[in-house]
Amino acid sequence: MKIELIGFPMFYGCDRPGVEHGPDKLRENGLVEILKKHNEEVEDFGNIDVMSVDTDRKYASHKSMKYLDEVVDGNLKLAQAVEKSLKAGNLPFVVGGDHSLGLGSMAGVKAASEEEYAVIWIDAHADLNVTESSPSGNIHGMPLGASTGLGDEALTSLYVKGQKVKPENIYIIGLRSVDEGEEVIIREHGINIWRMTDIRERGMDTVIHELLEMLGDSGIGKIHLSYDIDSLDIRLVPGTGTPVEDGLEFEESKALVKAIISTGKVGSIDFVEFNPVIDKDDITLNSSLTMLEAFSEALGNVK
Ligand code: ARG
Ligand code: MN
Ligand code: MN
Ligand code: MN
Repeated sequence: MKIELIGFPMFYGCDRPGVEHGPDKLRENGLVEILKKHNEEVEDFGNIDVMSVDTDRKYASHKSMKYLDEVVDGNLKLAQAVEKSLKAGNLPFVVGGDHSLGLGSMAGVKAASEEEYAVIWIDAHADLNVTESSPSGNIHGMPLGASTGLGDEALTSLYVKGQKVKPENIYIIGLRSVDEGEEVIIREHGINIWRMTDIRERGMDTVIHELLEMLGDSGIGKIHLSYDIDSLDIRLVPGTGTPVEDGLEFEESKALVKAIISTGKVGSIDFVEFNPVIDKDDITLNSSLTMLEAFSEALGNVK
């Protein structure tokens, strides 16, 4: 299967400039070569055309959701690109940019197939907020909530109307920073989660086993894998906007990603939240490259 690299240079969803340079910084440091090392067919689509506006537009389209119009516009273009990539038989590999891009990638996945799919969200955060529960107004904290059909119509109807994924088909791993409203959503909608406390108590091998068993039992044949680098421990990712302590170590994260990809069911991937401008001594750049190598190798091993 051909990997189609799609850059999404946006910071509007996190309201912290710098993360929009993520895709090009990773390209300059060998992203395409890393993917090609283990995969025969890799094509770089380039970057989605994200509009450039002044910071005075922050609350121009909504009183509390920041840069709503800009986030929606970019994600509509992304959804279109992801749908096209999938329909061509490719695996879209979307590199951010902030995690609001989950809105566009999940909408694109939904548009491309009739089949139900699972979403695996590797993240320190749940990104399940709706407008009212969000402490920040940052849309990168909302894509998973919106994908279940919760929240503002502008987000829930993006590209495809209504729910993009069933809550019981969502699996969040690495969670350790959850807002009050998100806890309610997790409880009420039966979203599957493994917090860092679960991983520390039972070990990553057990968690992987539990995850694969649940996925198998669900009978779902397609997975959208969304990887937020802030799932890694704070000392590995100083260059991300919302780092959190007590996160995943490389070995845990690599084992998890490899196990998920080796199911052969992963049809689309997001890789988000690397901000080169706030990085320290290229620590986050190198962490990102380390993880991208693991993604590439695992994809190359899928038959
Ligand atoms: N829960 C916080 C919020 O909604 C932080 C979200 C961080 N999300 C991310 N994709 N890094 O503002
Ligand atoms: Mn996060
Ligand atoms: Mn996230
Ligand atoms: Mn951020």
